[in-house]
Amino acid sequence: MSGVDWPALKAAALAVQARAYVPYSNYQVGAALLTASGEIVAGCNVENATFGATCCAERAAVFAAVAAGHRAFQAVAVVTNGAAPGTPCGICRQVLAEFGNDLDVLCFTPEGIEQQYRLSKLLPHAFTLK
Ligand code: THU
Repeated sequence: MSGVDWPALKAAALAVQARAYVPYSNYQVGAALLTASGEIVAGCNVENATFGATCCAERAAVFAAVAAGHRAFQAVAVVTNGAAPGTPCGICRQVLAEFGNDLDVLCFTPEGIEQQYRLSKLLPHAFTLK
């Protein structure tokens, strides 16, 4: 998307990645959402001793954004460590799709490996009650 300040979005994702609470997996994820109004809302993964109560970074970002009054988004940048960038899990794809399937999704590593997707390609035929 032409209007997206990708460097700013990536910087926000990297900053929040450092705050990830990951005592069990040691896998830090940072997600930064760009709202339709141009604000950036970030989230990190927060793990739990039950494992099942863990919340992914992407969902943490969406929930924080909705709580702040945002329901339309242009893009999300997701940063993970490792040789190749991780892509949002299935649950996070469905949660992102709730607010529109034409989202630009940039997955990247701190070393600069990156891959860009459209959410509609990551989650074709998302569930909808419509
Ligand atoms: N995780 C995310 O934050 N986002 C994803 O899309 C996939 C997985 C987190 C959950 C858990 O804290 C760790 O990565 C390992 O699964």
